[in-house]
Order: sequence, then structure tokens, then C-alpha cells
Amino acid sequence: MTFDVVVAADLDWGIGQDQGLPWPRLRGDLAHFRRVTSTTVREGARNAIVMGRKTWESKEVAGKPLPRRLNVVVTRGALTLPEGAIAVGSLDAALALTGVETIFVVGGAGLFESALVDPRLRYIYLTRIEGRFGCDVVIPDLDTLGFVRDEKWEGEAIGDENGVKYRIERLRRSIVN
Ligand SMILES: NC(=O)c1ccc[n+]([C@@H]2O[C@H](COP(=O)([O-])OP(=O)(O)OC[C@H]3O[C@@H](n4cnc5c(N)ncnc54)[C@H](OP(=O)(O)O)[C@@H]3O)[C@@H](O)[C@H]2O)c1
Repeated sequence: MTFDVVVAADLDWGIGQDQGLPWPRLRGDLAHFRRVTSTTVREGARNAIVMGRKTWESKEVAGKPLPRRLNVVVTRGALTLPEGAIAVGSLDAALALTGVETIFVVGGAGLFESALVDPRLRYIYLTRIEGRFGCDVVIPDLDTLGFVRDEKWEGEAIGDENGVKYRIERLRRSIVN
């Protein structure tokens, strides 16, 4: 099964600081995240969001399952989770899940490290935050990894909230002939 990634990164490819997001709350980006990860083609179907254990415990998620999606927490340890969330031992185990429509890997950097080089990765929904926030968690430069803007995607948007400008795009791998 293929999967997609959803990530927000600043101009230095920073994604987190002090177990949270370093930029102010961006309602437009949160709405985009909710819409992309919750929407299904089939009525009554459900998507999965896959996250590392530290993201599950981060300020934004705080150990509460995001509604209408199966929350999958990747850990090598043992975790007790509430209803709506399950634990798996690897990214591969998460990608082997059945009974969900689309699988979204949503961070953090620990999990993206494996996800970004996985051939099953289809799209990256990237929110590019136009600032530098001195993050302590970063991802690799997606341009250097060979991802390019998917011009076919109609969901592109720009935002400017709380003094922060951002751009939402979808990336795909460049096709090498
Ligand atoms: N900007 C964004 O889009 C975004 C998205 C998500 C998170 N974040 C931020 O990123 C930070 C957290 O990211 P992080 O990189 O520190 O941690 P993380 O990737 O969320 O979690 C790391 C943990 O997940 C488990 N894990 C990761 N990869 C694994 C694998 N391949 N196999 C088995 N277990 C695996 C391990 O858990 P165990 O130690 O339990 O074994 C590991 O310690 C926070 O600041 C958060 O706010 C930002």
C-alpha cells in the first residue's frame, strides 16, 4: 500500500522545538491538516495517521487521539493507549495495516527519516513556513531528495496569520527518464 506524508517545515527544514511546534498557531494550516487526513473517497471509510511516539506525546497531540482517523503510534517500547489509537513496532507494521483508506505519516523527524526514502511514498503535503525558527528537530532538504511540486494538485494555498506567511503545496518524486 502507498502512503502520503504531511509536514510543516520552516526555511531551514525545521519542524519542531521543545516537543512542540515553534511557530504561532496557524488556523489555516491546522484546517488543511484536518481536511487532508480526514477526507475519504469512500463513504464510511477511515484514514490512518501514523506518528512517532514523541509526536504522540508532543504539545499538539498530547496523548489524545485526533478524531475520525485511526491514530497509529510507532514505538519500540510498550505503550498504553486510549481508544482510537493503536501502537505498532515499526513503520512497516503501520504500512501493513488493512481496513483504512489512506495512510498518512505525520511525523516527527524520527519517522520521516524512514518514510522519505521509502518507495511506497506517494505524495508529501508540505506547508512551507516562511521564516527561520531555530528548530531542534529538522528533516532533510526535500528539494535535494528529489521531490518537486505537483502541479496537478488543486489544493495549493498561501496563508498569512499571526505574522507568519506560509505556502501549502503537494510534492511528488521527480520522474527520471
Ligand atoms: N512540523 C511538523 O509537521 C511536525 C509533525 C510532527 C511532529 N513535529 C514535531 O517533531 C518533534 C517530535 O519529533 P521527533 O523526531 O523528536 O520524534 P518522533 O519521530 O515523533 O518520535 C520518535 C520515536 O518514535 C519511535 N520511532 C520512530 N521511528 C521509528 C521506527 N522506524 N521504528 C520504531 N519506532 C520508531 C521511537 O519511539 P520509542 O522511543 O518509544 O521507541 C522514537 O523514539 C516535536 O517537536 C513535534 O512537535 C512536527
